[in-house]
Amino acid sequence: MTVGIKTIIVAGARPNFMKVAPLMKRIAEQDRNSDRGWFDVRLVHTGQHYDEKMSNVFFQELGIPAPDINLGVGSGSQAVQTASVMTSFEPVCVSEKPDWVIVVGDVNSTVACTLVCAKMGIRVAHVEAGLRSFDRAMPEEINRIVTDSLADLLLTPSEDGNQNLRREGVAEERIKLVGNIMIDSLIENLPMSRQSNILNRLGLKSGQFAFVTLHRPSNVDGKESLTAIMAEVERLASWVPVVFPIHPRTRKMLGEFGIMPSEGKGLQLIDPIGYHDSLCLTENARLLLTDSGGLQEEATYFRTPCLTLRPSTERPVTVTMGSNRLTNLDRLAADIEEFLGGPERRGVIPPLWDGGTARRTLDEIIGASRR
Ligand code: UD1
Repeated sequence: MTVGIKTIIVAGARPNFMKVAPLMKRIAEQDRNSDRGWFDVRLVHTGQHYDEKMSNVFFQELGIPAPDINLGVGSGSQAVQTASVMTSFEPVCVSEKPDWVIVVGDVNSTVACTLVCAKMGIRVAHVEAGLRSFDRAMPEEINRIVTDSLADLLLTPSEDGNQNLRREGVAEERIKLVGNIMIDSLIENLPMSRQSNILNRLGLKSGQFAFVTLHRPSNVDGKESLTAIMAEVERLASWVPVVFPIHPRTRKMLGEFGIMPSEGKGLQLIDPIGYHDSLCLTENARLLLTDSGGLQEEATYFRTPCLTLRPSTERPVTVTMGSNRLTNLDRLAADIEEFLGGPERRGVIPPLWDGGTARRTLDEIIGASRR
């Protein structure tokens, strides 16, 4: 077999894993089905997320092979984490000499690896390019802008991504609309998520509970805002049973502020859950209340009514076409009442959210390699 394009795929934090899995799977399939290996791939885990429940469980459930290289950077401030990924990723690029590095999403690992490659003249493909919340207070927005300004191939999930990049002056030949890679993973894992027993474990009935996730620094890092949000979550729990898997950042802040709510009265606080359980809760919830990017998309696919506790979203298609609405603390109670009293399914599934994004992504990289 001829050796193909030497490629490093980078995974760093929880929302990266479901974007990397379909790429790894398609590459393995291509290798099996042809006498030519298009890609000679190394998987690098930066270790930005490292807990069993934030990382390992996703590798197992998504069938991602063990990383070839683990940088083990761990937690830190924005600068420390970004710098640690850079200093540990640079020697990997020196020894591996990749033709391409594929980065996904908008986490600190995404921007850190892109910066390293840009300075070493290594080509970068950014999967999930072009998304903008237009809110520079979000660390992820800075990561998106810097990554897209440096990456060579910008693979977008929806047409709004193309428009944002054009507006920023990006040359048309760098932009390719390939669709939403999260949905590749979702579709592939539906048979497994539909076998999840999480509803039984938590004593929940399909269509009769709310699923809550919150971890954005803007919501959880300030005592006043987190206290007010928790009061709203407790109010929601007086209307409908609530399950709230708590992200490590949120658990830490609830502890620091001394405002960890007591369980009972319809509120279940649990540890972070795996991918199949999360899909199962999203598909079966009567309402999702979140500040996550990925969950807005998964709710849109399932057409589950979703309220996003943020002033903006980098995924506007989930609002214009999908089941999502942006909300804030002033309107939350009214929005919840409206959504709980409204249709059980909302919106439609956007174009190219079809399970074919990994294949289109790899085809674009092969095409760009010839240029
Ligand atoms: C990161 C991403 C965000 C993504 C989120 C999903 C950035 C800037 N942010 O935010 O885009 O939506 O992941 O989870 O890259 N911690 C653990 N165990 C872990 C990981 C983190 O205990 O496995 C704790 C650490 O105390 C850390 C805190 O959680 O300080 C936050 O982790 P961090 O990676 O800094 O950012 P996230 O808030 O998770």
